[in-house]
Amino acid sequence: MTLRSYKGHLPKVCINTYVDESAVLIGDISIGHDSSIWPLVAARGDVNYIKIGDRTNVQDGAILHVTRPTPDNSAGYPLIIGDDVTIGHQAMLHGCHLGNRILVGMSAIIMDNVTVEDDVIIGGGSLVPPGKTLKSGFLYVGSPVKQARALTQDEIDFLLVSANNYVKLKDEYLLED
Ligand SMILES: CC(C)(COP(=O)(O)OP(=O)(O)OC[C@H]1O[C@@H](n2cnc3c(N)ncnc32)[C@H](O)[C@@H]1OP(=O)(O)O)[C@@H](O)C(=O)NCCC(=O)NCCS
Repeated sequence: MTLRSYKGHLPKVCINTYVDESAVLIGDISIGHDSSIWPLVAARGDVNYIKIGDRTNVQDGAILHVTRPTPDNSAGYPLIIGDDVTIGHQAMLHGCHLGNRILVGMSAIIMDNVTVEDDVIIGGGSLVPPGKTLKSGFLYVGSPVKQARALTQDEIDFLLVSANNYVKLKDEYLLED
């Protein structure tokens, strides 16, 4: 079963969002409209919550998790992802906060308490260490990531194109069900 309850929390998914039947979503997770969760994604909203916005795609094999509250950090680290975000295949997102119109490259790792501002590209295979802030309008690459350069206007425009492509693709998949 794709959507699994944990401690009374069942993932809430808007009706026009696509969740592949091989994905596993557990616990306190909410996903907005026109988003898509692709094969073999594992998302665990158990010790904190996961919130995903509208028109965001989480591609195959991505792993999403969170960090529990502690006496020193009463909120812990939930995972919050904004609108029109593309999460590439096999990315690992843990207890971080992503804004809107972001591309997370394939196999990138984003750790606790990271903030990614709007309109950012993170290169494939990059590692974003805990607590870092990635500034709006820049490309970040490497392990650990470094700011590589400002994004071009074409690249900023592509962030919405990528999200919209996945909205169209998930609509086709929904017709198959
Ligand atoms: C990040 C990315 C967009 C950069 O593309 P680009 O326009 O070729 O980048 P640039 O040529 O400006 O590269 C800037 C520098 O970063 C390096 N670089 C580019 N991508 C890198 C990556 N993923 N990791 C490490 N370094 C990278 C380049 O070699 C270059 O280094 P140099 O200045 O020493 O020569 C692209 O490489 C990438 O990783 N795309 C991710 C695609 C993806 O995963 N999509 C989701 C699935 S569909």
